[in-house]
Amino acid sequence: ALVNSIEMFKKAYEGGYAVGAFNVNNMEIIQGIVSAAQAENAPLILQVSAGARKYANPIYLKKLVEAAIEETGLDIVLHLDHGEDFEICKACIDDGFSSVMIDGSKYPLEENIALTKRVVDYAKQFGVTVEGELGKLAGVEDAVKVSSKDATYTDPDEAVEFVERTGVDSLAIAIGTSHGAYKFKGEPSLDFARLEVITSKLPGFPLVLHGASSVPEEFVALCNKYGGEIPGARGVPEEMLRQAAKSGVCKINIDTDLRLAMTASIRQTFVEHPSEFDPRKYLGPGRDAIQKMVQHKIKNVLGASGKR
Ligand code: G3H
Ligand code: 13P
Ligand code: NA
Ligand code: ZN
Repeated sequence: ALVNSIEMFKKAYEGGYAVGAFNVNNMEIIQGIVSAAQAENAPLILQVSAGARKYANPIYLKKLVEAAIEETGLDIVLHLDHGEDFEICKACIDDGFSSVMIDGSKYPLEENIALTKRVVDYAKQFGVTVEGELGKLAGVEDAVKVSSKDATYTDPDEAVEFVERTGVDSLAIAIGTSHGAYKFKGEPSLDFARLEVITSKLPGFPLVLHGASSVPEEFVALCNKYGGEIPGARGVPEEMLRQAAKSGVCKINIDTDLRLAMTASIRQTFVEHPSEFDPRKYLGPGRDAIQKMVQHKIKNVLGASGKR
């Protein structure tokens, strides 16, 4: 069924694992992810960004997710990723999403709280869960500056105040991850000490890790081998994600790894079968590559196999 995140996060928190939240943009991506969750008997969050809504047309993604639920019988959360204002959150709630993120992280604390609370008050009436965000995800440039950590990473006391005053169901935190395929210039590092303090001040409260792709070397190598140009791409080591999943982190966001898996596969097909021009002949293997990658994440990184 289409479900909100409450029970899923409660179980994940208590079980010491995390639910994968995967970004979706088209049918093959949805099918690859859903097949993986089905094969692993795992809980699943499918998330749609504003860009995805624009690309696919809002109704298409909703209907494709409905089809996936109907076909598999899985419990799936359909979540808005990085809603930037009240209006897009309301639009998704009105469209039948079961969860939304309001990302007010770029605003000062009071404005972030006011905006987030407004979304929570609206969403609550429909049983829709809300994710807020506090702290700024590092860009590659920022990540190196140790001194800027306190300015950009999530402040534990503010996190407590934010959660209490907004009534959010989950909170995205900044501890050193960033979006995209270039996350670290030097050695990867996350502020686990900060995560521990946040967890201890908000016991039982579900935290969310954005920018959590691991940028697997095999996909980067395949892309580059078959004509791509993504040198120096670097993600969050899987061991760090395993550690995060065991903590209060209940949702781990992955988009970049889906893009890399699919693109690597399609590039390979194009080079190895240059006379092929039936889209099914490259989108099909791309879909299989996504399934394989997502199964690996669920099983070996998130610890969510069999936790449906
Ligand atoms: O956090 C960003 C997600 O990877 C979605 O990316 O806005 O290009 O759809 P997008
Ligand atoms: P990645 O770019 O690391 O996949 O992060 C995705 C994300 O946080 C979506 O909200
Ligand atoms: Na967890
Ligand atoms: Zn994100």
